[in-house]
Parts: sequence; C-alpha cells; structure tokens
Amino acid sequence: MLRNKEWLDDHSRTALSRLFPRIEARFKAQTDAAEWEAYTLRLRRHFPRLFERLYALYGDVYDFYYHLESILASTTEMWLARPAELKALDAMRETDPYWYQSNRMVGAMCYVDLFAGNLQDLRQKIPYLKELGITYLHLMPIFKVPAGDNDGGYAVSSYREVDSRFGTAEDLAELASELRHHGISLTLDLVFNHTSDEHEWAEKALQGNKEYQEYYRMFPDRELPDAFEKSMPEVFTEDHPGAFTYRTRIKKWVWTTFYTYQWDLNYENPAVFNRMLEEMLFLANQGVEILRLDAVAFLWKRLGTNSQNLPEAHWIIQAFNAVASIAAPAMVFKSEAIVHPDEVSKYISMEECQLSYNPQLMALLWEALATRDVRVLQYAMRHRYAIPEGCVWVNYVRCHDDIGWAFANDDVQAIGFNPDEHRRFLTKYYIGRYEGSFARGAPFQEDPRTGDARVSGTAASLTGIEKALEDNNEEALNLAICRMLLIHGVIITMGGIPLLYLGDEIATLNDYAYDKDPAKIGDTRWLHRPKFDWKRAELRRDAKSVAGRVFTGLLRLIQLRDQNLAFARGETEFVETGNQHVFGFFRSNDQNVVFVLANFNEHPQCLEARRLRQMGMRKTMMDLYAGKAITATQELTIEPYQLMVLARVA
Ligand code: GLC
Repeated sequence: MLRNKEWLDDHSRTALSRLFPRIEARFKAQTDAAEWEAYTLRLRRHFPRLFERLYALYGDVYDFYYHLESILASTTEMWLARPAELKALDAMRETDPYWYQSNRMVGAMCYVDLFAGNLQDLRQKIPYLKELGITYLHLMPIFKVPAGDNDGGYAVSSYREVDSRFGTAEDLAELASELRHHGISLTLDLVFNHTSDEHEWAEKALQGNKEYQEYYRMFPDRELPDAFEKSMPEVFTEDHPGAFTYRTRIKKWVWTTFYTYQWDLNYENPAVFNRMLEEMLFLANQGVEILRLDAVAFLWKRLGTNSQNLPEAHWIIQAFNAVASIAAPAMVFKSEAIVHPDEVSKYISMEECQLSYNPQLMALLWEALATRDVRVLQYAMRHRYAIPEGCVWVNYVRCHDDIGWAFANDDVQAIGFNPDEHRRFLTKYYIGRYEGSFARGAPFQEDPRTGDARVSGTAASLTGIEKALEDNNEEALNLAICRMLLIHGVIITMGGIPLLYLGDEIATLNDYAYDKDPAKIGDTRWLHRPKFDWKRAELRRDAKSVAGRVFTGLLRLIQLRDQNLAFARGETEFVETGNQHVFGFFRSNDQNVVFVLANFNEHPQCLEARRLRQMGMRKTMMDLYAGKAITATQELTIEPYQLMVLARVA
C-alpha cells in the first residue's frame, strides 16, 4: 500500500513508540546498558525506512502489526546472538562506512571443495590468497543441499547447516575469523529467491501443511501458471519449459524459475520475509561482511508482467538493508542482477545494495575482444557507469555462471549494429561456430527455437589460450595471454572492486570431463568449474610457463592498484581516445591521477599525441604497468592488446 511521506513518518513514529517498550521489556535485560543504547539508537534511526518498506509490502495484510512486531523481535534476537568480535567490527565500520571503496579491495571467488577440499583446508590456502592481494573472498554456497543435482549449491535445503562435505558450523566460524584477521572479508550468498524442494519448509508443504504451502507459490491447476507465462521469458529453457513444475504428491504446480527442484519463495507472505531475515542475520553472525544477494530480479511476481525487477523486489531488499543496518551494520549487500543495465542499476543505492555485479562491463569486455572495437563499451560506460555516491561496482571478467549478453540494445544501436545479430554473432564467436575465432566455449541454455544461447568457458579458453596451445602457435599464445591480461587489467584499474574467479590467475583451461558426472551433465557451466589445479599453481613464479605469465601479470596489476590512491573509490572518467580500438579512462582521487589506455586490437594502434595532451597528458609520461617512461611527441603507439597505466612523471 502506498502512502505519502508525512503519513508514513507519523505512523512509523507511532508504531515505534508502541512497539519499542514491548521489545525493550523482552530483551533489554539480556545485554548491558551501553550495548542496548547503541543498538536502540540504530533501531530508531533505521526504523522509519523499515516501516515504510514493510508497510508498502504488507500494509494490506490483516495481521500486519503482528508481523511488524515479530520482525523487530527477530532482528533484536539475532543481534543479541551476534558474537562480540563482530559487534566490535560493527562499531569500527560505523566510523568507516565506505571501507569497501579502498583501492586495496580485491575480490576472489571459489568453490570450497574445488579450490581447497573443505573449510579447514581452505585455511591453509590463505597464504595463496594473500600472495595475490585478495581482501574479499566469496565462497560459493556451502550449506546443505540435495545430493546430486543442486545447481552448484544454489538449491539450499538448510540455511544454517553447513554441508558435511565442507565441514561444520564451527569450521565456518573459525575460517571467517581467520580470514578477517588476515584482512580478508568473507562473502557468502543469501539464496533467498528459492529453497530446494528438500528444505524443511518445502517438505512440510509436500506433506500437505497449508501454512508451509503458503511459503511458496503453488497453484491447483494451469489457469494462473498459463496466465503468468504469457508475459514471462523462460530462464532455464533447456531444463523445463515455462516457470512451473507439477508435483503429483500435492497435485499442485509449484513456481520454479530455475531448476525444477528450486522452489520460489512467496514474499507476499510476511512470514517468509521474517524467516528469511533470520537466515540473513544468521549469515551475518557467522562473520559475513559482504552478502551476495542471489537472483534479486525474481523476488516478486505479478500477472501481466515479466515478473522480473518489480518494485516490490526492491522494497524487499531495502527492508532487508534496514534490518542489517540495525543488527549487523558491518555487513554490506552485493546485488546479483544479471539483467538489462537500466534494471541492474536500480538495485544500487546505500539503502539497497551498496555493491553490485557489473554484468554489462563483463559482457562488453568480451564483446570488445570479439569485435576489436571499443565503441559500444565506451558508449555504454560513458552513459551508464555512474552510480550513487558511496556505492561501487564489482567488476569481473568471469564467474561461475555463463556469459549472457546483458548490455542495452540502445547502446549497440547507437554504434550502428543490430542488437539481435550482434548477440548472435558474439555467441557464435565464443562457442566455436565462427570461423577464425580464437575462443573455445560452449553454449549454455541454448534455445533451439531461436538459436539464442549464453556462453560457458574459462577466461583462458575464451581468450584463446586453449586454442593457441593446441595449435602449438607461439604467436597466437602471446596474443591470447595479452588478451587475458588486458581484460583483467581493465577490471583492476577501473572504478569499483575487481573480482577474480580463482583459477583464472593461473590460466585454467576448460574442463571437458565434467559431463562424466551425472550431477553435472547437461549444465555446461561446469566446463569452467574445474577442480583447482595446485600443480599448475606451482608454476606461478615460472615466467616461462603460461600460468606464470598470467599470474605475474595479474599480480603486477593488483600491486599497482594497491599502491596508488588514484584507484580508491569508484569514479571513472571515460574519454574518447580518437581510435576505435583503444579504450581509455581516467582515475583520480585528490592529487592522484592515472590515465588508462587499453588496445583491444591485435595490431599496434596509434593515438594522436596532441589529443592526449589536450586531455592533460604530458609529452613524457610514466607507464606504471610497464614500469618505464614513454615519450609521445607526434603519436603514441600502443602495442597489440597492450594496457598502459600512465601517470605524470613526478
Ligand atoms: C544465480 C547463481 C546461479 C544460479 C541461480 C539460481 O544466478 O549465480 O549459479 O543458477 O542464481 O540460484
């Protein structure tokens, strides 16, 4: 229900004045006076926005006030359970709220089992992470899941029980604090759009329990599912048509956006919001500092729409954000919305997600490599990079998912390409159906009706390292390694937090053996989810090996970022370099300025020196990446796939 600001302010004040004494009576005695004071200060500060969002979502529900009180009680209970060390972190972060904007922030992500074995073994790998300069680590889902198919952990059966393959809850807590002591922030997922069909709630629903059936979206016949599907795109096309799965036991159609065993939660039910906020704060209390909000676009559904990115999805996250600000302010949110760039940016604000994946940049880096043309990239960045003050992009090249061409049609058209043809070309280019392509990838969720597909494959295979090695072509190999370092160089120097997909730093190739495993067959994303090759990692200091060349190149880039304050914060100023193969941007912060140039072509390119000077460059500049001075009187030549990080000579 929507009300004006004044009404909301009034009623939020009244609601709090009624509810607060009840909360205080129940909980105050459980902690000391000063702690309670600090907590209630935050509660008072963030309650108005919590109330506003909850009222918008659930104001119509007959027992709204009951739920409001339960939500406050759960929030307080979870805060009381928060370990002292994390409460201390809360206090620290409140004085340094933009901690994640530091130029020292470098993220990495991995599967615990594939990277290390289990949570305990992972502790032994901290030195490796530190060697790379990693300051935030995203562990792929580690909670209980169904045996066999579980969407790589994204079908969660319990948000609190660590899957025994990975260890125990104690192992997780120990790992989190050890990481923190080493200056590495832990990131875990809140998979909150759906649970697995083996979650306790789903099992109760399957037993016919009405209360739990309302935790999900279920329909007795095809009438509503058919009506919804009229305006909804399919997400996992290869797995099942439409968005619903029939369960004979209860004779109902269950909403399943992703795999058939992933049941979408029903956020129209305030009890679901309440239960999930407890799960969220449970994660916070394990020491999570960056919470990855999975599949945010799908949280709310409405007939006659595509049921993606609806306003209510934002309100849910904003309400969660208010709860986290009250009970776990050390934790920030990262949104995972792999949708149209205009929609991606709507999730980004200090009151919603402070961090967001940048799927547009990811897609356009691959686009620019395939076309050797940076115009779409440049255009899109100039128009869409800016996000609210305090927020940052998480920039990545590869992750555990496929590559979808999540850029805007308008941007492609502005450069004169046809968006559909362009996407089709890119897919073909990367899945080996385009003559002369350097890439080795595979289609993901290919739609035989339209030929549309997304792309799977590791960065090394997609940049041409795999093919060059196979062809035994030294020259092609050099170019491929340069491509690999070029796109990583862009994400490391551009505004935001770079996120590495562990394995890429040692140029891991596609794993074609994945389809021997019945739990993985058919999901090509396993191509780029191999077991981490520690033998290969031993070569990282060997400058002659491929792994070593990529590793040392990345290390140098990370160190460069680490040591230059120009890379702090998120602002980036994109410039027209006057050459359609060369991408360029400025990074600046106070007195520190660098100018980054990236040649996306396999031939040397020239830039007019006059033009560079017009942008504030001097004749002689220092290339911080190459570690040498360069002089450009008439022209500046930039080598194939070269990245330059130029700074004024002091
Ligand atoms: C996210 C995950 C992806 C998973 C999906 C469903 O997009 O990144 O791996 O398949 O959510 O949970």
